[in-house]
Amino acid sequence: MLVCHCNIITQKEIEATIISLLDADPWQLIVPAKVYHTLKQRGRCCGCFPNVVETIIRVTEEYHRRSVDTGDEVVTYLDRVRGLRGQFGSNANEGRSKDHRAA
Ligand code: FES
Repeated sequence: MLVCHCNIITQKEIEATIISLLDADPWQLIVPAKVYHTLKQRGRCCGCFPNVVETIIRVTEEYHRRSVDTGDEVVTYLDRVRGLRGQFGSNANEGRSKDHRAA
């Protein structure tokens, strides 16, 4: 599935990049800009970033759930991140204007 229409990046590419970043350092902070930089791309309209954040949370959650010793603790923190996203309304507002869409 295509996630970023500006750079033609698929969901699988983003997931693979996140896993490679986690393999390099499981405790690093992964943000959309880091994923795109690793892919040698950059955000243009950045309308895909909320979906990329959701993908980062989901893949990181699955990655750490597979690690037996700290899996449950990390998932609790990721639930808090997900809650903050709901609290600050990023689910409802993608940052795009409603009257004009470039893509
Ligand atoms: S859709 Fe990804 S940068 Fe525009």
